[in-house]
Amino acid sequence: MSNKIILFSIVALTFGSFALAYEPAPIQDFCVADPNSSVKVNGVSCKNPMQVQAEDFFFSGLHLRGNTSNAVGSRVTPVFAAQLPGLNTMGISMVRIDYAPWGINPPHTHPRATEILMVLEGTLQVGFVTSNPDNRHVSKVLQKGDVFVFPVGLVHYQRNVGNGHAVVIAALSSQNPGAITIANAVFGANPPIASDVLSRAFQVDKTVVDQLQAKF
Ligand SMILES: *[C@@H]1O[C@H](CO)[C@@H](O)[C@H](O)[C@H]1NC(C)=O
Ligand SMILES: *[C@@H]1O[C@H](CO)[C@@H](O)[C@H](O)[C@H]1NC(C)=O
Repeated sequence: MSNKIILFSIVALTFGSFALAYEPAPIQDFCVADPNSSVKVNGVSCKNPMQVQAEDFFFSGLHLRGNTSNAVGSRVTPVFAAQLPGLNTMGISMVRIDYAPWGINPPHTHPRATEILMVLEGTLQVGFVTSNPDNRHVSKVLQKGDVFVFPVGLVHYQRNVGNGHAVVIAALSSQNPGAITIANAVFGANPPIASDVLSRAFQVDKTVVDQLQAKF
């Protein structure tokens, strides 16, 4: 083996294990979450497979409209491992999102998941922003039946640009994707981030920062 090939193999193995580090591949048919177990693992420990029932792989309720009477005019109904125990260790989950007319799902990121979204009803403008230094805004208007993907970790949002209700179903590549809503994390941190830090970061007056911190 030449040195080049050995080096390539080492690089491939290293990056291969990085890819697996995201959500480990299952090493059994299933590992239905046992919420009663006090054992701490990466995920939730498994229920005895002999006691597993069809109900453990089942969730009912995504036909129901989420309540969008809130400041942003949208509602996410999650189907993560916490709602559907059979998703534990499977590296996948689902949400329904409802939008009031002109409602938004504010800019946020999922630290552990890529998201693929399909419009069931309505017209949505969607977008994500690439990482530094480009911060390119990739955006598109979607109609019923359209599908769009938000790459893992990138800040993204959706806005209902129609006068009617809008609804989407999205799948995410983690049993527990996590969500960091930018405004809430930055201006609603508890305890707060010092206002002079935010004032300088956002290049605005401290009074503007105080106003924003008061809202979150
Ligand atoms: C958890 O414990 C409660 C009370 O003992 C029991 O009713 C329930 O079935 C348990 N859940 C699972 C998933 O084992
Ligand atoms: C929707 O949420 C609002 C605000 O929390 C609440 O006042 C209202 O009763 C809810 N509507 C339904 C149908 O649950």
